[in-house]
Amino acid sequence: MEPKRKGGRRAAKQTSSESAASPAAAANAPSQRPKRQELPKATPPEAEVPEDMTSKDYYFDSYSHFGIHEEMLKDRVRTEAYMNAIYNNEHLFRNKVVLDVGCGTGILSMFAAKAGARRVIGIDCAAIIHQAREIVEANGLSDVVTLVQGRVEEVVLPDGIKQVCLFEASMRKNHACLADELASGCSPPVRPPRPQVDIIISEWMGYFLLYESMLDTVLVARDKWLTRGGLLFPDKASLFLVAIEDADYKREKMDFWDNVCEFSGRTPRTRKPIPHPAPHLSAWSHLAALLAPDGFDMSCVKRLAMQEPVVDVCDAEQICTSASCVLSIDLATVTLEDLAFSARFSLSAARNDYVHALVAYFDCTFSACHKPVMLSTSPRAPYTHWKQTVLYLDEVLVVNAAESLEGEIRVRRNEKNPRDVDIHLQLALDGEHGSYEVTQDYRLR
Ligand SMILES: C[S@@+](CC[C@H](N)C(=O)[O-])C[C@H]1O[C@@H](n2cnc3c(N)ncnc32)[C@H](O)[C@@H]1O
Repeated sequence: MEPKRKGGRRAAKQTSSESAASPAAAANAPSQRPKRQELPKATPPEAEVPEDMTSKDYYFDSYSHFGIHEEMLKDRVRTEAYMNAIYNNEHLFRNKVVLDVGCGTGILSMFAAKAGARRVIGIDCAAIIHQAREIVEANGLSDVVTLVQGRVEEVVLPDGIKQVCLFEASMRKNHACLADELASGCSPPVRPPRPQVDIIISEWMGYFLLYESMLDTVLVARDKWLTRGGLLFPDKASLFLVAIEDADYKREKMDFWDNVCEFSGRTPRTRKPIPHPAPHLSAWSHLAALLAPDGFDMSCVKRLAMQEPVVDVCDAEQICTSASCVLSIDLATVTLEDLAFSARFSLSAARNDYVHALVAYFDCTFSACHKPVMLSTSPRAPYTHWKQTVLYLDEVLVVNAAESLEGEIRVRRNEKNPRDVDIHLQLALDGEHGSYEVTQDYRLR
């Protein structure tokens, strides 16, 4: 049967095996946001200009290639959300010092400069910063925008931008730490060093919100440079789960591995023909042998595929339950530890249906705006390059309207590779058509 979702849905996330097999392809046609492990481990040397870079360099540093930036800039929902949040709030930006964490082509820095910022500093570790400098120059904004190449964790900002002292950073993170800090001998300075930055803008969100771990970098910047009471754009983010019916695509994407290259009898018959009546087979076994699939059993790959969340688009019509928020972040106060979380959720069925997967999506809000701006990656919202993240279930659940799927999700960085996200899911349904207890583990890599 024709799968429901053609086009977008087919352009699934590039898998690590694809990129490993073809670094040149990854460099020449980066159609997905790169993985964070593809970022340089340390600040690359200034001399590494794009003209000198090879496909191998791009493989390890895909953000240096313009292709990935083209995709992000052309994601209108994404780029316009930032543009509206900044342009429609000139009163917040006028005369302010703004830091753009991971500036890429410098687009957000230029929005801030045009909105009246006194000074904008953009930081990026990738070689795209060379183009960003030219872009800023070409658009006549060099007197306001300064770009720094390096990892946020390592760079020193240009003259005048001081680091927030440890004391102030810890206060912002957790007022309860105060007593400990004082007890450990870290006393507050009479006057904290000024100026710091007034606003941090950053587009840090990865698949499943947390993949890429770039939020860690924004938190480092916040604790190093954001003045007390400073603003973050965006400053709120939430992650949601919903259940979907997805028989066709699950069959195409997962069950495919059960019987590969079964093209209606085109496989050459290399097996000996089964004599009839076969002395060693019962009539039923003989029939089963004749009807046995023609293709190849690759179900060992299916087991792996089922553990990997699929980044792809879902149709709103597939949603068959209510949504449940499993994570809510306030960037002003969130800590690294908060990003490993467990949450219980309840999804109420909106109709009689079959559940093949849970789908995760996120929303971000620029709540400091006069009128808050929201960027949503819900299947009900317009397409974004983040699509949605689909967690397929081994079992198909049969639900009736108003029945409830009760579950718990646990999300952690992978111990071996902290850039991977481990997801543990437990799901229970006590319905008219059966009782189910599902426990599954996934790894976003
Ligand atoms: C998602 S892109 C956003 C680019 C740009 N701000 C935009 O909106 O089009 C993230 C950028 O952050 C940069 N980046 C990621 N981690 C970084 C780090 N630790 N230090 C400096 N730059 C980083 C990447 O090189 C990439 O260009």
